[in-house]
Amino acid sequence: MRDGHGRVIDYLRISLTDRCNFRCIYCMPESGVQQMGHDEILRIEEIEAIARVATGIGIRSVRLTGGEPLVRKGVVDLVAALNDMPGIVNVSMTTNGVLLPEMASDLKAAGLSRVNISLDTLDADQFADITRVGKIESTLKGIEAALEAGFNPVKINAVTVRRLNQDYLEFAKLSIDRPLHVRFIEYMPVGESTGSDGSGWDRTDVIPSEELLEIINDRAIAEGMPALEPLDGEHKPLGWGPARYFEFPGALGTVGFISPLSRHFCSECNRLRLTADGKLRPCLFSDREIDVRAALREGGEEAVHNAFLEALNLKPDEHHDKVGTERNMSQIGG
Ligand code: GTP
Ligand code: 5AD
Ligand code: SF4
Repeated sequence: MRDGHGRVIDYLRISLTDRCNFRCIYCMPESGVQQMGHDEILRIEEIEAIARVATGIGIRSVRLTGGEPLVRKGVVDLVAALNDMPGIVNVSMTTNGVLLPEMASDLKAAGLSRVNISLDTLDADQFADITRVGKIESTLKGIEAALEAGFNPVKINAVTVRRLNQDYLEFAKLSIDRPLHVRFIEYMPVGESTGSDGSGWDRTDVIPSEELLEIINDRAIAEGMPALEPLDGEHKPLGWGPARYFEFPGALGTVGFISPLSRHFCSECNRLRLTADGKLRPCLFSDREIDVRAALREGGEEAVHNAFLEALNLKPDEHHDKVGTERNMSQIGG
């Protein structure tokens, strides 16, 4: 179905929980966020009911997010139910990977097709600083488990924050020997997340993708490596998202850039978001939400259908440089 600006909307991101086993500095405050109450969170059957209605307005692809989606009880059964749902052609997940070693094969058997794993650095100390509580081995083991289970593609999401001075070339090289698709994401101002020195998001921390591409290529050439080459349609990894892709010649994987700030992709936006507490968000950067939980609990599936129509209608043409949000990323799901 099309939204009020003619865009085809066929992708729903479903946040399963606002809880997470990490506390990434760009995602949530150190103390965590005030957690949603038990009754506020959609039950698994309610998520299924909402997804079923969503297929009726043209949703074909679903991505499960969080917080950390794998800490939600019942996630494997939900994947199976979504995968069996007529109309849904692809079920994917964005995760920090920590629970993949124990869950990857069950998720694969339930029909999950692909995973995007968040990892911002290969330096163990920096990883601990960024996630505040995480150990790098846990996410690295999760990546191994994802490859072993046969997810394809496996993408790695790295948020870039200038003051952290991450090693971008080392990171991009992850794409060479194995089929890993590294994506660099511009740091977005969301919620009350604060930077490592407590000062919060600052525009100077954003590394525009064009600049980052140049930094990576300059360093590659200085090391005698070839530069990244742009990828066209058929060589891009399967996905519904806004990344632009490149590759090192001959590499098994790719390097992508997600540029919500420097080159916004609103005109190609294909998605709606459902928060764990049952709010439909037409746009990541707009705090306008539609209460689909109340619609379901009070009015049933017809009311949910109407809530989706309202969300399509309310979807703004673009974010008009209003890029902050009241909620944290962990509550919206990225
Ligand atoms: P695929 O390409 O289908 O694998 O999915 P994706 O890249 O949309 O999913 P993922 O959850 O890995 O998203 C990566 C990050 O891109 C998100 O966490 C956000 O930071 C950013 N992003 C995704 N969609 C949007 C969007 O609609 N607007 C903005 N501003 N950022 C987005
Ligand atoms: N800016 C950009 N990306 C972010 N993510 C979380 N917070 C931010 C932010 N402030 C990303 C995570 C993860 C996805 C769910 O959202 O790295 O890949
Ligand atoms: Fe958890 Fe992902 Fe947010 Fe990090 S970015 S705190 S792993 S939800």
